[in-house]
Amino acid sequence: MKGKVVLVTGANGGLGTYVTQAFLDAGATVVGTSRKIQQSDFDNPNFTALAAEISALESARSLVEKVVSRFGKLDVLAHTVGAFAGGQTIADTDDATLQRMFDLNLNSVFHILRAAVPPLRNTGAGRIIAIGSRAALEPGAGVGAYSASKAAMVSLIRTVALENKDAGLTANVILPGTMDTPANRKAIPNADVSKWVQPHSVADLVVWLAGETGKDVNGSVIPVYGKDA
Ligand SMILES: NC(=O)c1ccc[n+]([C@@H]2O[C@H](COP(=O)([O-])OP(=O)(O)OC[C@H]3O[C@@H](n4cnc5c(N)ncnc54)[C@H](OP(=O)(O)O)[C@@H]3O)[C@@H](O)[C@H]2O)c1
Repeated sequence: MKGKVVLVTGANGGLGTYVTQAFLDAGATVVGTSRKIQQSDFDNPNFTALAAEISALESARSLVEKVVSRFGKLDVLAHTVGAFAGGQTIADTDDATLQRMFDLNLNSVFHILRAAVPPLRNTGAGRIIAIGSRAALEPGAGVGAYSASKAAMVSLIRTVALENKDAGLTANVILPGTMDTPANRKAIPNADVSKWVQPHSVADLVVWLAGETGKDVNGSVIPVYGKDA
């Protein structure tokens, strides 16, 4: 990945931390973004922190413009921003929960795609890897708003894959099952964590899709379900 400019959204999150580190380990120049990201989050000269709120179009555009003006191009977008809400049936789900799920799981993708696709097309070999969820394909009781927002984002990514293959750009979406993150360990203390997906496995897959060998994989919806598959 030497010479590649990579934008990781949600770079300080449970998964994003691994994705950012994996790209840095592969020699990429990495811009990590989130609302509270800090330069000190990664001790690497190839890392740049750019704080941004990306559930609004203008801030997503401004973020991508800063990346391109500072580094001259954008080769890879790895989008990990997302949020979870569960525990309510559809009948009990309030408007604010539905809105939050769509803002963070769908609108954020829409805005960052609108901002990032033009510079990614310019490289002739751009890569988009987005993180969905198993729930996008397998809705469960009590996670309706989350599942619907993730299903919609899968559709967006597949559309972008079709619309940009003429420019050598690929777009794929990974659907993890429950991952072994600090937040999940805290939220579900008695779980059998051996069944959970390791974030570094997902991060390695993201980097593979972003690399030269990933160029023939486009429009894919990739399940990574761990031992619960
Ligand atoms: N954890 C799981 O078991 C699991 C399973 C399946 C799928 N997923 C999906 O995998 C992805 C990563 O999950 P995770 O567990 O790593 O999530 P996480 O730890 O909650 O991280 C979310 C990241 O998004 C950033 N963020 C949140 N709102 C933002 C906004 N408005 N603008 C910019 N950045 C924002 C957060 O940083 P700031 O707070 O600094 O903004 C953080 O970096 C998500 O899409 C999630 O839905 C997770």
